[in-house]
Amino acid sequence: MEVIIVDAAEDVARVAADAITALYRGKPDAVLGVATGSSPVGVYDELGRRVAAGELSLSGGRAFMLDEYVGLPADHPERYRNVIERDFVAKVDIASDAVSGPDGGADDLAAACAAYERAIADAGGIDLQILGIGTDGHIAFNEPGSSLASRTRIKTLTSQTRADNARFFGDDPEAVPRHCLTQGIGTIRDARHLVLVATGRHKAEAVHQLVEGPVSAMWPATALQLHPHVTVVLDPPASSRLQLAAYYTETYRAKPSWQGP
Ligand code: GLP
Repeated sequence: MEVIIVDAAEDVARVAADAITALYRGKPDAVLGVATGSSPVGVYDELGRRVAAGELSLSGGRAFMLDEYVGLPADHPERYRNVIERDFVAKVDIASDAVSGPDGGADDLAAACAAYERAIADAGGIDLQILGIGTDGHIAFNEPGSSLASRTRIKTLTSQTRADNARFFGDDPEAVPRHCLTQGIGTIRDARHLVLVATGRHKAEAVHQLVEGPVSAMWPATALQLHPHVTVVLDPPASSRLQLAAYYTETYRAKPSWQGP
């Protein structure tokens, strides 16, 4: 796991966008995994800037979302498909129909989960998955207690996550759906490169567990320690609980130029 502690939150977006730019340079039809939440918004802004400047194109690629709420109407602004349309698709040059997500409006949710797993496999798997992290250590919507081998399935959100996400639902936790469909931790671990971004002091404990804690379903993001290619990009507040912060910084500064993202 590579841990990169940058000087400021803006630099988190730049470093993550550099990894995505390098991927598309070598593989113009790459498959990108996209995440919702506040954390990746700066990354999408930076990708949009690079596309507008002619430095990057995602037009040959495909994208898969991590998760979706169950039961929100198709036109609900917080339905993750609509969030990704606004936060990502509208800023870059990928076609809207090249972006897929689990169908939280399906009559048969279990069948929708199985179909989503097949769609990812049929696309050849995900080359680079962008991730945020919840304050309770969840990735996608894999809440504490999730199997570290799980596949796309229905999950019940914790009250902590519903409280955290209430800001998108008029500050009313009861307005946040109780259920979601989410890629499992096993699904996420199948992506070839995982790039997790986190900013702010409120993420410091989850980041500490992710990087330095024992692997445990109690902190689902710790499963990333079992993946061979993970990049964690942090601002100083998000890194403030790391015991080996000085070593990670030293390692990054001494990174040989021939070593890729
Ligand atoms: C949400 C999403 C996750 C995201 C997390 C953190 O519940 N399902 O994919 O990483 O919460 O969100 P934020 O980046 O807004 O803090």
